[in-house]
Amino acid sequence: MIFRPMQDPTSSTWTYLLADEATREAVLIDPVFEQHRRDEALIRELGLTLTTVLDTHCHADHVTAAWLHQQTSGCAVALSRTYGARGVTRPLDDGDTVSFGRHVLAVRATPGHTAGCLTYVLDEGVMAFTGDALLIRGAGRTDFQQGSAATLYRSIHERIFDLPDTCRICPAHDYNGRTWSTVWEERIHNPRVGGDARERDFVGYMDNLALPHPKKIDLALPANLQSGRPEDGLVPGEVTWGPVTVSYAGVHEIDPAWVAAHRDAVHLLDVRDPDEIDARLPAVDGALLIPLGTLRDRLDSVPQDKPVVCLCPAGRRSAMAATILHKAGWEAVANVRGGLFAWVRDGLPL
Ligand SMILES: [Fe+2]
Repeated sequence: MIFRPMQDPTSSTWTYLLADEATREAVLIDPVFEQHRRDEALIRELGLTLTTVLDTHCHADHVTAAWLHQQTSGCAVALSRTYGARGVTRPLDDGDTVSFGRHVLAVRATPGHTAGCLTYVLDEGVMAFTGDALLIRGAGRTDFQQGSAATLYRSIHERIFDLPDTCRICPAHDYNGRTWSTVWEERIHNPRVGGDARERDFVGYMDNLALPHPKKIDLALPANLQSGRPEDGLVPGEVTWGPVTVSYAGVHEIDPAWVAAHRDAVHLLDVRDPDEIDARLPAVDGALLIPLGTLRDRLDSVPQDKPVVCLCPAGRRSAMAATILHKAGWEAVANVRGGLFAWVRDGLPL
């Protein structure tokens, strides 16, 4: 199985990409709005099809990317039915299952942090995506969103600690960079709810946390009740001048065939050194030739009236050129995916 945890550094949220290696069907758990392009790029680069986006609960600290992923991939949007959130196409109840290829996520209601918190259990206890119910050596706060420490204690003990000892605990957050834990570990070592902690010990602990009000709650809750759909209904950062995608490495890329078919719509910037231009890899007609090593000093020579598309043999150095132009203020700039090698391989005109 493909398993890829990805962290949002701002909210310390863990997003999990899970996929069946054979069928390439994928699900994404707790995606973050601002990381939509990153996650989408990894799904594309791994050759996966996103079938469902699941949130473990209605988050108060960040906005979900569920709606964004649905717009760009057509995937289903899954969340507990409890919240009545708009845009949810698969309202979930305790006992439901969500499949991807040969793998199954079983839905367990684990309320207490919020009334609608769900834990997703993979393949009968291989992993459990516990949201903010059970954290690594912690548990989610219970002082807002219909939270209840007594309810959370019972959820953890009856619906998470009954999973196999080896079941990997994958929480929605960790503020100390920790990746995962196990049921056994948390049952023994969790300082809030593990060891001999009784319900009243846990309630006493949680009622005295005195945490500050979450910074983003006033923005995040209403947005998450719309599955993260922005008020204007537009996907932010969408490039309109051409079919530009952003790679997992963060590079804006464009298909060579599109560039060849739209030569008049863009400036082509070839960043090879002069001695690399030969009969085997000649310059593309009309391309501007500025070697990468001199680009920063020659920005005045790069026109701004049309999008700039960067090119070099393998498409690696030209990615740096695109980054230099981006940082210097060019908004419409992209790298030719695969570079001149791909250009030649595709039989495009030189
Ligand atoms: Fe939460």
